[in-house]
Amino acid sequence: MTFSLVSAWNRRRRSKSLDAFHRWTLKPPEQLQLKDQSSSLGRRNRSLVFTLKEMEEATGSFSDKNLIGEGGFGRVYKGTLANGEVVAIKKMDRRPSKKQADGEHEFRVEVDLLTRLDHPNLVTLIGYCADGMHRFLVYEFMPRGNLQDVLNGISNLKMEWPLRVRVALGAARGLAYLHSNSALGIPIVHRDFKSTNILLSEYFEAKISDFGLAKLMRENEDTYTNTRMLGTFGYFDPEYALTGTLTLKSDVYAFGVVLLELLTGRRALELNQSTADQNLILQFRNIPTDQKKKLRKLIDPEMARSSYTMETITMFVDLASRCVRIDSNSRPTMSQCVKELQVILYASMKA
Ligand SMILES: Nc1ncnc2c1ncn2[C@@H]1O[C@H](COP(=O)(O)OP(=O)(O)OP(=O)(O)O)[C@@H](O)[C@H]1O
Ligand SMILES: [Mg+2]
Repeated sequence: MTFSLVSAWNRRRRSKSLDAFHRWTLKPPEQLQLKDQSSSLGRRNRSLVFTLKEMEEATGSFSDKNLIGEGGFGRVYKGTLANGEVVAIKKMDRRPSKKQADGEHEFRVEVDLLTRLDHPNLVTLIGYCADGMHRFLVYEFMPRGNLQDVLNGISNLKMEWPLRVRVALGAARGLAYLHSNSALGIPIVHRDFKSTNILLSEYFEAKISDFGLAKLMRENEDTYTNTRMLGTFGYFDPEYALTGTLTLKSDVYAFGVVLLELLTGRRALELNQSTADQNLILQFRNIPTDQKKKLRKLIDPEMARSSYTMETITMFVDLASRCVRIDSNSRPTMSQCVKELQVILYASMKA
């Protein structure tokens, strides 16, 4: 009796969460019932719309000295707006084709939605520019750059263990917020969570960037590309890779990969290694969490031995290994990850 009640409740819960997922994937942005959030929003409640001229003025006509990075969607420039605010401006390479007159509308609606997100662990999307064929996204500027560069020693900054756990917790909180209904009334899947999309503030607070970007680009492309994989090698949820079904748990998988990057200081995919050593996850899967000796070998040698205890490392690895489980249903939710990381951070600070 108890069993059937529990399983009925589980079924209801599952169908509810599936509902939420389908609403998220299928509903065009125009039909979303947005709550009036003006009272609950912090800094901004609507996007700023810029002209191409304003983008040029902010970046010194996209001068190379303002170039701060380049990714799959285009180049990123440091810029200063007319009001003096320092920003990061992403100049999108892919432009909408002429036949997609509606693409522009969708772009605006989507960006408008994304600018309503307000959380200390999300990079603030300040606004956008959709001038003619040009597309730009304007973000708050993050002075310490991306997590991967810091872990790889490119930015000459050292991160000891408690700071790494704090960054993991911040990123987990950002993802949990995206996954909750509290953001826009529907859960949002990031789709491209990875260490280069975790940016660091001056005080090393983690903020997630590029949320919704993959979706935004997909909506503007031809429909056949809907079957194209979105995301980055090294972070793909195996279930998504096999079936094309993207769920909140796809982000949890990618989060697990980032936890391993924090632990090892290595990249998710290292193409300069031998084939057997290229993929961080494949290497990690072979090590049971109770084998401390082998675990020790995984730990980033850049971290001072005095900055961590094996107890907190084991807790962290245990969480990471559950996040990257092949079966998506047995991965934790992001809010569970937040709870566990709070405990790990507390234990790491005490040590
Ligand atoms: N808001 C920002 N503040 C400071 N630096 C940023 C900001 N946004 C992006 N960058 C820098 O620009 C780089 C390129 O960013 P971009 O998002 O275009 O590419 P990516 O994340 O490396 O890869 P992908 O395009 O596959 O997501 C980032 O790695 C980061 O170092
Ligand atoms: Mg990025």
